[in-house]
Amino acid sequence: MNKKKQIKCYYFQLFFIFANQYPNEYMISCKNITKSFGDLTVLKGIDLTISKGEIVSVVGPSGAGKTTLLQILGTLDKPDSGEVLYENINVSKLKDKELAAFRNKNIGFVFQFHQLLPEFTALENVMIPALIGNVKQPEAMKQAKEILDFLGLHDRMEHKPAQLSGGEKQRVAVARALVNHPFVIFADEPSGSLDTQNKEELHQLFFDLRKEFNQTFVIVTHDEQLAKLTDRIIPMKDGKVI
Ligand SMILES: Nc1ncnc2c1ncn2[C@@H]1O[C@H](COP(=O)(O)OP(=O)(O)OP(=O)(O)O)[C@@H](O)[C@H]1O
Ligand SMILES: [Mg+2]
Repeated sequence: MNKKKQIKCYYFQLFFIFANQYPNEYMISCKNITKSFGDLTVLKGIDLTISKGEIVSVVGPSGAGKTTLLQILGTLDKPDSGEVLYENINVSKLKDKELAAFRNKNIGFVFQFHQLLPEFTALENVMIPALIGNVKQPEAMKQAKEILDFLGLHDRMEHKPAQLSGGEKQRVAVARALVNHPFVIFADEPSGSLDTQNKEELHQLFFDLRKEFNQTFVIVTHDEQLAKLTDRIIPMKDGKVI
């Protein structure tokens, strides 16, 4: 790493430490989660805990309920029964507005397809969650620039998604997920649309972010190599953790 990059990394680290409100023992847990769509029971009683700084992978055949579980843990969907706790906050008890604010502050998402807004630049896409979280525009821009810089996207900030490569788009999506310093990033097949080299770079990035900032990740993946690298594999089949 050259000196300039080292200094940048140091400032970014300091910034993260000050902005990071989560103690190391902070934990997400879910208890006896069930979920059905019509007659189809997709989740049949899931219990899990995820600690600060862990990188866990969720694996299993198509239709096992991985995405459904991730959406429920990430508060994008509600279980039929059971509860999701962030430390001692039961998210199902939060009202819609409170939940939206909670999600914006504590949770980041990365999907298989980047889901960046096509009419906005990379920088603007990364700023949006900060602006939604009521961070003032100049500060949101500063934070977004620092993160994009850290992810090696300094020269791509003013590009719109259509002007970025697949790997760059996914890195911008990671930057967007990181901008509010969330407790956890949920990633649903984040490298599913990437070639081998971009895939490996993205996976390395997750581990770099954990090393530098103790960032927590829950990653749904069909990639065995990635799963093997994670701290813990959560294997799912037919709506259960097996
Ligand atoms: N909104 C929905 N309405 C009806 N059925 C749904 C809905 N979402 C998911 N399902 C069904 O629930 C089951 C589990 O879906 P889910 O997306 O969680 O699987 P998955 O493990 O993520 O699979 P994949 O590896 O293919 O992404 C599937 O049979 C799916 O068709
Ligand atoms: Mg899925």
